[in-house]
Amino acid sequence: MQDHSVEMRGIVKRFGSVTASDQVDFSANAGEVHALLGENGAGKSTVMSMLSGVYRADEGEILIHGKPARIRSPKDAALLGVGMVFQNFRLVQTLTAAENIVLGEKSSFWRGSKWIRQKREEIEALGEQFGLKFPVNRPIWQLSVGEQQRVEIVKTLYRGADIIILDEPTSVLTPGEAEQLFETLRVMKQAGKTVIMTTHKMKEVMASSDRISVMRKGKMIATLATAQTDELELARLMVGREVTISRQEREATQGEPLLVVNRLEVSADHGRKALDGLSLTVCEGEIVGVAGVAGNGQKELAEVLTGLRTWKNGEIIFDGSRVKTASVRGAIDAGISHVPENRMKSGLAGRLGSVDNLLFKSYRTEEHSKFGILKAAKNRLWSQELVQRFDVKTPELDTPVQQLSGGNQQKLLFAREVSHKPKLMVAVHPTQGLDVGATAGVHELLMELRSSGSGVLLISEDLDELLQLSDRILVIYNGAIIGESDHEHADREQIGLMMAGIRHREGSAV
Ligand SMILES: Nc1ncnc2c1ncn2[C@@H]1O[C@H](COP(=O)(O)OP(=O)(O)O)[C@@H](O)[C@H]1O
Ligand SMILES: [Mg+2]
Repeated sequence: MQDHSVEMRGIVKRFGSVTASDQVDFSANAGEVHALLGENGAGKSTVMSMLSGVYRADEGEILIHGKPARIRSPKDAALLGVGMVFQNFRLVQTLTAAENIVLGEKSSFWRGSKWIRQKREEIEALGEQFGLKFPVNRPIWQLSVGEQQRVEIVKTLYRGADIIILDEPTSVLTPGEAEQLFETLRVMKQAGKTVIMTTHKMKEVMASSDRISVMRKGKMIATLATAQTDELELARLMVGREVTISRQEREATQGEPLLVVNRLEVSADHGRKALDGLSLTVCEGEIVGVAGVAGNGQKELAEVLTGLRTWKNGEIIFDGSRVKTASVRGAIDAGISHVPENRMKSGLAGRLGSVDNLLFKSYRTEEHSKFGILKAAKNRLWSQELVQRFDVKTPELDTPVQQLSGGNQQKLLFAREVSHKPKLMVAVHPTQGLDVGATAGVHELLMELRSSGSGVLLISEDLDELLQLSDRILVIYNGAIIGESDHEHADREQIGLMMAGIRHREGSAV
């Protein structure tokens, strides 16, 4: 039997009712780049966080170099030679790169300049050896994201890690920087390190790894040699093959086109193109699902449609008229409601209670205020009724909503958005983080909107959810729709491939 440098056996980790890691077995060897592949939410970060001591496993055991290891903190992990580079870097912005790397070494700031020079040289030598260049003497805030990542990697190497975990390292890199990183991974592996990289991007895995372990919904599905697999097989493993989803026969409720988007072009925050000629139509009484890997323009699409972001080219026609400018108020008044991706950041005001949150978008209407004064008693009754109807469990109507569970927050948000009888609902990952019961509740609400003649644009990374609810599924890739499939003919495998940018079974990349 091979001598694994890392072996995880029967690892279980639960977060409330979610089993993020369900009896996971995983092993990696010295001298390999091992990719941990899976869709968002599959459990990759959770499993690696247990190896690096950030989380403790509820069950299971971990062996490092064949010996049972007690990893109860990142420090324990570091002593065993395990270092992790997280998605969100943990660097002190005002200290230099070199200072960040030696930080934590005993009384490092009391030593003389000779010591500092020596450390700097050590750090530079490591950077040189592994192809990780960055200005050692500049404060972190002056470094690009790619450079900061290199600092993080050198930090783990400097601290003597021989098992190095990178969590979605390319998500912050340009394609060119990603290539460079893969080169570094190769050098590390030649130096005998164990390199583990989590990612949800198949192409990268094929380009950079020796072996691939695939996770899906908290379970380890398979471990394969990269040379003996291909993107088709990986797509199947990632999204699952079984067609267990209940796609009930359902009544067609589709009416007139409600939203028509033509060749939309939108810039992202950094000036990159986020939407690049995207076109789609949503009809009345229709749920249109948008499938895709995060970061392909979903966020910007939702923002444009709800008035939060402006567009450069193309047109948006809503309910028969052309939308002229981006305006949140305009979108609300036109009848577009929004269930945003991050409900606590942009959907709800955490410190306020249910009444205020419910009134957020309609307090100006005649129903709720007169001459600018809120109709307090009436609004309370109205809120009470909504809270009951949508089954929001809150101790008091005024309990700050940040104290409610995720499921109840989401129900409250839906209550508000649905209470306006929207013509179109733009729902982004509406069931993310919810348990089974709350998820079913949200699905029911979306179906009710559909039968009442509203249009729904459902942006989700959960293929099961999309297959179950959508009349049509569109696949977004690099800011455009690259494929479409209707409710009856939706094929997981095909959609999974399109999500990876592959249009046809023959494997022609876009
Ligand atoms: N700290 C946490 N609290 C509650 N749930 C969590 C936490 N971290 C992860 N989860 C849940 O565990 C599941 C797996 O998440 P994660 O390991 O981040 O997946 P991945 O890294 O593959 O995208 C998800 O359903 C996620 O919502
Ligand atoms: Mg993750």
